[in-house]
Amino acid sequence: MATRKTIMPDLARMKADGSRIVMITAYDALFARIFDEAGVDVLLVGDSLGQVVLGHPDTLNVTMDDMVRHTGAAARGRRRALLVSDMPFLSYQAGVPDAIRNAGRLLQAGAEGVKLEGGRNAAETIRAIARVDIPVMGHIGLTPQSVHRMGGYRVQGKTDPQRERLLDDAAAVQEAGAFAVVLEGMPAALAEEITKSLSIPTIGIGAGPHCDGQVLVMQDLLGLFDEFRPKFVKRFGELRQPVSDAVEAYAAAVRDGTFPGREQSF
Ligand code: KIV
Repeated sequence: MATRKTIMPDLARMKADGSRIVMITAYDALFARIFDEAGVDVLLVGDSLGQVVLGHPDTLNVTMDDMVRHTGAAARGRRRALLVSDMPFLSYQAGVPDAIRNAGRLLQAGAEGVKLEGGRNAAETIRAIARVDIPVMGHIGLTPQSVHRMGGYRVQGKTDPQRERLLDDAAAVQEAGAFAVVLEGMPAALAEEITKSLSIPTIGIGAGPHCDGQVLVMQDLLGLFDEFRPKFVKRFGELRQPVSDAVEAYAAAVRDGTFPGREQSF
């Protein structure tokens, strides 16, 4: 397990060494600290914040102010893991100066890199942000901010033209200067092909076992989020029930007068 600070160049070295990169989402200081101490390499303040923390149906209503606040919180909790923060919908699509300023705000809040969705269509933006020395992680395949174009959260790259497009997107993101790229929701064989074709690391989610690393949303892997269970999620814990049981026990103790007792009283 890593004990020293993970720095940006470590990810390229890990790909070269064949060491798998472990990434998990975190949105606050408490969980950032727990995951950091558990030894993950990269913490992602994902715009999945919209669904799993803020209660929105998708990521489209997440704002820069939301991301700055949660990035700051996660940054205050982590000690060692690399911190990457998502650029939310409309924070980079409307123009390059806007994108650079917003990426900079995330760095000022404590991120060490930003992630944005898009392939060849986002290459100019990635290049412009990377050129001012803000490290950029790409994100291609199933891109949640494009939910309406995709007609839902659907696996991408299943047809030959889609496959060609994703190979081209991956090449464009790398060529534009991204330090890594998330491959989301695509056939394992295509993710493997992309991973072999790139010199930058790929981080998979719903993209099979051949990526250079993996990412999961913390509430999914901890078994806290129950609204839907995508096939690609493995729940490494089942915390929803114990949390609910603990709160029910607390409520019962308050109601029957057994809490607080003498031990909790001054
Ligand atoms: O927003 C997010 O959590 C993400 C990951 C699932 C890759 O983008």
